[in-house]
Amino acid sequence: MGTFLWWITAVLVFAVGVTTVNACPPSDMEALLAFRAALNEPYLGIFNSWTGNDCCNNWYGVTCDPTTKRVADIALRGESEDPIFQKAKRTGYMTGSISPAICKLERLANVVLADWKGISGIIPPCISSLPFLRHIDLVGNQISGGIPIDIGKLNLLTVLNLADNKITGTIPRSLANISTLMHLDLRNNMISGIIPTNFGRLRMLSRLLLSGNRISGPIPNTVSHIYRLSDLDLSLNQISGPIPESLGKMAVLATLNLDGNMISGKLPATLINSGISILNLSKNAIEGSIPDVFGPRSYFMMMDLSYNKLTGPIPKSIASASYVGHLDLSHNHLCGAIPAGSWFEHLEASSFTNNDCLCGKPLQAC
Ligand SMILES: *[C@@H]1O[C@H](CO)[C@@H](O)[C@H](O)[C@H]1NC(C)=O
Ligand SMILES: *[C@@H]1O[C@H](CO)[C@@H](O)[C@H](O)[C@H]1NC(C)=O
Repeated sequence: MGTFLWWITAVLVFAVGVTTVNACPPSDMEALLAFRAALNEPYLGIFNSWTGNDCCNNWYGVTCDPTTKRVADIALRGESEDPIFQKAKRTGYMTGSISPAICKLERLANVVLADWKGISGIIPPCISSLPFLRHIDLVGNQISGGIPIDIGKLNLLTVLNLADNKITGTIPRSLANISTLMHLDLRNNMISGIIPTNFGRLRMLSRLLLSGNRISGPIPNTVSHIYRLSDLDLSLNQISGPIPESLGKMAVLATLNLDGNMISGKLPATLINSGISILNLSKNAIEGSIPDVFGPRSYFMMMDLSYNKLTGPIPKSIASASYVGHLDLSHNHLCGAIPAGSWFEHLEASSFTNNDCLCGKPLQAC
């Protein structure tokens, strides 16, 4: 009998020991519960699984590091193929805010709280002190306030996506200290101020998307030092000054959207004979003539130069471009005969209308 009791006790102690070892630390669990308490998800019940005391085991959207048993990822997407969404036949909606308790998850590497439409409040500034953060994705909410001023302390961060929110304030200078950053998406917020001149230090950055804000000042020349940059979208801001000539010499830049700004000066020749295949400069104040330097390297899926102050003729060399898919030169002050060229055949009159005196196919004969 005594031996039996001893065995029972031993087995129980062992079992408790095992559960405790496998469970997430109570401090992480407390932090998660405080995080959950600040949010309200009324339709899907995504937090229903957040019960029991092992937050590393089947808590929806939570993943722990297998060795440390510390919470490493919170990944909650409001638009997903997950069965929870298919069953409810709807996309997610969540209100509330991001609790600063998230900063107690010291080993957090990924935070995705995307497309919930209604999460508001600020980004807790303390997230800049989470040394393992690699990925912050808060796209598609109502988050307001500024980008934490010392975000540059996150020296492992590769993705910062705050697009489609209500972020105000300026882009912190410290951001340029994140040498690992590959993807910066701040589109469609209310960010003002200039593009920090030190941005050229972001050597790993491949997508820099700042469209739809209130950013002013010039495009810093140093942007062309970001040699991995393939997609630069500064459209729909209040950017002024000329287009740096160096942008057209960037090794892998393929998409350049500067439309809807107050950019002036001439169209740099480097942009015409470059690797850029999507170029939108529409709705600016670019003047002078279109450089006559098209050649075999010119391959444009889209070139939109409409609504500027361009003068002179359409350069003859445009016929030697490898390809121009969508071309829009309308609403400028161009004049002269439209050059003939095989790829021109598919263009419609709307590509050339509202100029001073363009003529020839597809417009009326000269
Ligand atoms: C960038 O990092 C350096 C070195 O750690 C530091 O001295 C500097 O203050 C940081 N810059 C900003 C703007 O935070
Ligand atoms: C270029 O930008 C303008 C202004 O933002 C926009 O209206 C237009 O649709 C864009 N062009 C193309 C071909 O996407």
